Amino acid sequence: MKILGLSAGTNNGANDSMVKEALMGAQSAGAEVEFINLLKLDIHHCTGCIACVKGLFGGKGRICSQKDDFLWLLDKMLDADGIVLSSPIFENGTAGIVHTLTDRFGPSMDRGNLTIADKILKEQGKEGLDPRLLKDKVISFMGIGGSDWGELVQLDHAMLAMTPMWKVIDNEKFQWSKTILMDDDALAKAHQIGINIVEAAKDVEHATYQGAEGVCPHCHLNNFYIYPGTTHAKCNLCGLEGEFTIEDGKMKINYPEEELPLAHDTMSGKMKHGDDIQYNEGRLAELQKNSEEFKARKKKYMDFIKPTVPARA
Ligand SMILES: Cc1cc2nc3c(=O)[nH]c(=O)nc-3n(C[C@H](O)[C@H](O)[C@H](O)COP(=O)(O)O)c2cc1C
Repeated sequence: MKILGLSAGTNNGANDSMVKEALMGAQSAGAEVEFINLLKLDIHHCTGCIACVKGLFGGKGRICSQKDDFLWLLDKMLDADGIVLSSPIFENGTAGIVHTLTDRFGPSMDRGNLTIADKILKEQGKEGLDPRLLKDKVISFMGIGGSDWGELVQLDHAMLAMTPMWKVIDNEKFQWSKTILMDDDALAKAHQIGINIVEAAKDVEHATYQGAEGVCPHCHLNNFYIYPGTTHAKCNLCGLEGEFTIEDGKMKINYPEEELPLAHDTMSGKMKHGDDIQYNEGRLAELQKNSEEFKARKKKYMDFIKPTVPARA
């Protein structure tokens, strides 16, 4: 049993320490542990080139145009039975490096896309994808902030797990935490998160979320887009839509039955999203190939102005 700890914080800062506390918990529960600070890696932003989408749906497997440490990190993540990731809270949400990881997971780690790509490869008589890509996994998160701004961090973290459909076991947020090393409750929580991830990794199928119950009954988060002038709302993580009511003084969202298969973190929801994307990519490809009107419109913007870049020595 291997548990991987990832920190997006400064060298030997609060996040490094909290992840190490979680790893101590995991070790006490019998796991082998490994620690990586994400800021020591060379990880580039996703450029949106969609080489990965073309590769997956074109029978070429999982490819990426970027050459950096991402594949090394992904290999470590796939090898681990469970992961604990801690990030500083930046501007209410997670740190940029974690957003970048989430983008790099994007289409190329989407469980629906990977399932389809694996099938395409096998239908061509080729070897399928690395089976670790299609395996269930458990992951926990900690967001550590120096103030009381942090309403987006749990959403950002759950978003990383949603793409590969990894199960979130804990998704904790710690605020006013510059002196967290003196906070025994916070340290005990991190230690427990480490123990919880080992227990969850022992039986991934039956592992359950260990955090506080959120307003969304499907994904436990408290972040919604409320359609102005209505009680209609959409969960910012799972994408389910329903009506808000007030019951026993509490805001409650009710999702109609037919909405449930559309949740972004379910295979049926992913397949529907995949179909919608394939349709729209197809429309674009058709315009690029056959529409003079499209080509003329594109040229207008290309010819209008070129991007300014700094002079390099
Ligand atoms: C660019 C930046 C933005 C930050 N934004 C927030 C914030 O929105 N909310 C918050 O609670 N703390 C915020 N902080 C404080 C960091 O979360 C805090 O310094 C961090 O947890 C320290 O982690 P480390 O010791 O592991 O590096 C911010 C810090 C920086 C540098």
